[in-house]
Amino acid sequence: MKRIIYSLFFLFFFSSLALSADDVKIKEVFPFFPSLLTTKSGQPVNSSHFESPSVCMGCHPDIYNQWKGSMHSNAFKDPVFQALWNLAEKEAGPEMRNLCGGCHTAIGTVAQEVRKEDGKFLASEVAMEGVSCDLCHTIVETRMKISPTGLPQNASFVVEPGDVKRGPYKDSKSTYHKSEYSELHTKSEFCGSCHNVFHPVSNFHIENTYTEWKFSVYAQKGIQCQDCHMVPVEVAIQTAKTLKKPDKLPGRPSNVGPMRDYMYTHEFVGGNAVIPKLMGSDKHSEIAIKRLQNAASLDVKFTGGKKGDLSEITVKVKNETAGHNLPTSLTEVREMWLEITVTDDKGKVVYKSGGLDKDGNVDPSAEMFNAYAVDEHGYHTVKPWEIARFEYNNTIPPKGSKTVKYTILTPKDSKNLKVDVKLNYRSYPQAVANMLLGPNAPKIPTILMTSKTMNVALK
Ligand code: HEC
Ligand code: HEC
Ligand code: HEC
Ligand code: HEC
Ligand code: HEC
Repeated sequence: MKRIIYSLFFLFFFSSLALSADDVKIKEVFPFFPSLLTTKSGQPVNSSHFESPSVCMGCHPDIYNQWKGSMHSNAFKDPVFQALWNLAEKEAGPEMRNLCGGCHTAIGTVAQEVRKEDGKFLASEVAMEGVSCDLCHTIVETRMKISPTGLPQNASFVVEPGDVKRGPYKDSKSTYHKSEYSELHTKSEFCGSCHNVFHPVSNFHIENTYTEWKFSVYAQKGIQCQDCHMVPVEVAIQTAKTLKKPDKLPGRPSNVGPMRDYMYTHEFVGGNAVIPKLMGSDKHSEIAIKRLQNAASLDVKFTGGKKGDLSEITVKVKNETAGHNLPTSLTEVREMWLEITVTDDKGKVVYKSGGLDKDGNVDPSAEMFNAYAVDEHGYHTVKPWEIARFEYNNTIPPKGSKTVKYTILTPKDSKNLKVDVKLNYRSYPQAVANMLLGPNAPKIPTILMTSKTMNVALK
């Protein structure tokens, strides 16, 4: 089966006949190609078969309030996404409607009803709710085994909207809908379908969160995405540090149902503090900041210290609580970097790396822990459809660390030095935000993840 699909991919992209028999065949296996998304019947499904989150809210008000304002609830409306999607269609062609839509509005994609008006993508109300209740709870299986890499990728799941809502309980009853136990919902493979974004032609791993997790100590210990992103942030930090889930997480999933010993929350917060705030949820933004502020640790060592001579500052950055690389996913645009300032007795700066210039760009000599993406000719790009490879990937693996050395000239005329090291995070460079959002782009805040200050007596 896999071999057939590989050759189908090959033929699809490299045959010069636009509408060959192979084109028809691949549409049978992946009807919304290049998205790997499908429905149980393999046919498009009208969006009226999906229920609005406001219906679920009636009996699941707490869950609704957690989800509302999350990145999932913004997945379609997110202005940064909308702008890049527009550009994708312009530059890479109409296939981008299904490709990007498969994850950002799976409902709009299986309904084939995303349209564009005045440069803005629109769909039915329920499709514009992004990654919503009735999408996730009507997912029935993963198709990772028949994906081109054998990994979950590019929306490789099957959805079957209807009366049956699938979830983690084996004994759950509701008068409104049928409930069915789904092991998939309790596993990272559920999230992985969307949290692994591969180039549809080359399968280059552009966003790799699931795979990073899969080969980490967290996967070995059975700690899933849900155990960090569907629990209060304090619980996630404990779980990451102890590599053990709590025995109990009590809660009441429905206001017309029983109390449960174990219940997951639905904020789905990562590191994005910009979009939730822009779309009206300060709460999700604050949780993102808290997550970032507990994600890494810094260790600073100073060697040398002889006046007028060279000294060395060694900084070790450790990924303490992220279950995947730090940062992860859109690593070609996310920025995480070291800002280091060394000052003398009078407060004069004797060494600096990692500051921002007046336009908000990070000092190009800063130690940056992200990926540098290039196109097939080797030119830098942040457009996913152009990415051929990463020239480097300096992200930090789960529980791993990176060590950076700075050599400075120790001043002659100071008794002490103060070394101030900061680890910063920014969702996108200001220039990328300006390119996508134009003159109305908000100022993208720099979030201080952690810092260390050290005073050194010179010899
Ligand atoms: C396999 C699923 C998938 C596909 C396909 C996909 N995305 Fe995404 N996209 C995601 C996920 C998951 C995130 C969130 C990652 C994160 O925030 O770290 C995301 C985030 C983004 C963001 C960042 C949003 C923000 O505000 O930070 C942009 C922009 C974006 N996608 C654009 C696109 C475009 C354009 C396409 C099509 C060319 C596309 N995506 C295809 C899953 C997908
Ligand atoms: C009339 C009330 C009501 C409405 C409306 C409602 N539910 Fe439920 N739902 C319940 C009750 C009660 C339970 C059982 C809770 C329990 O067992 O702890 C439940 C359980 C669930 C479960 C757990 C299933 C399992 O087996 O693990 C999921 C998932 C779920 N609902 C999703 C939804 C979604 C999605 C919607 C909106 C489309 C929705 N519900 C609308 C009352 C409702
Ligand atoms: C991104 C997918 C996703 C979205 C969106 C989502 N859920 Fe869930 N939900 C899950 C997963 C996964 C679980 C099970 C977690 C586990 O047990 O490991 C779950 C669990 C549940 C449960 C069982 C109780 C609990 O919280 O553990 C209910 C009820 C539920 N969801 C209802 C809803 C409702 C209502 C909405 C919309 C307001 C919603 N879900 C949105 C994925 C999602
Ligand atoms: C149907 C596709 C889909 C599924 C399934 C899915 N996600 Fe997402 N997720 C997305 C998209 C798309 C975004 C980015 C939305 C945006 O651009 O605004 C996102 C965003 C997120 C974010 C916020 C990232 C940030 O930058 O702050 C987290 C955390 C997250 N997802 C976790 C999960 C977890 C955990 C699961 C499994 C329980 C899951 N997702 C399942 C598509 C999905
Ligand atoms: C041990 C806890 C833990 C586990 C397990 C975990 N995460 Fe995370 N995740 C974090 C922390 C902490 C952050 C914030 C730091 C960062 O951005 O990497 C984060 C950030 C994210 C982000 C936002 C990244 C960004 O900077 O834009 C996404 C998306 C995400 N996680 C998805 C997932 C998915 C999908 C899985 C499962 C495959 C998963 N996470 C498993 C702790 C965890």
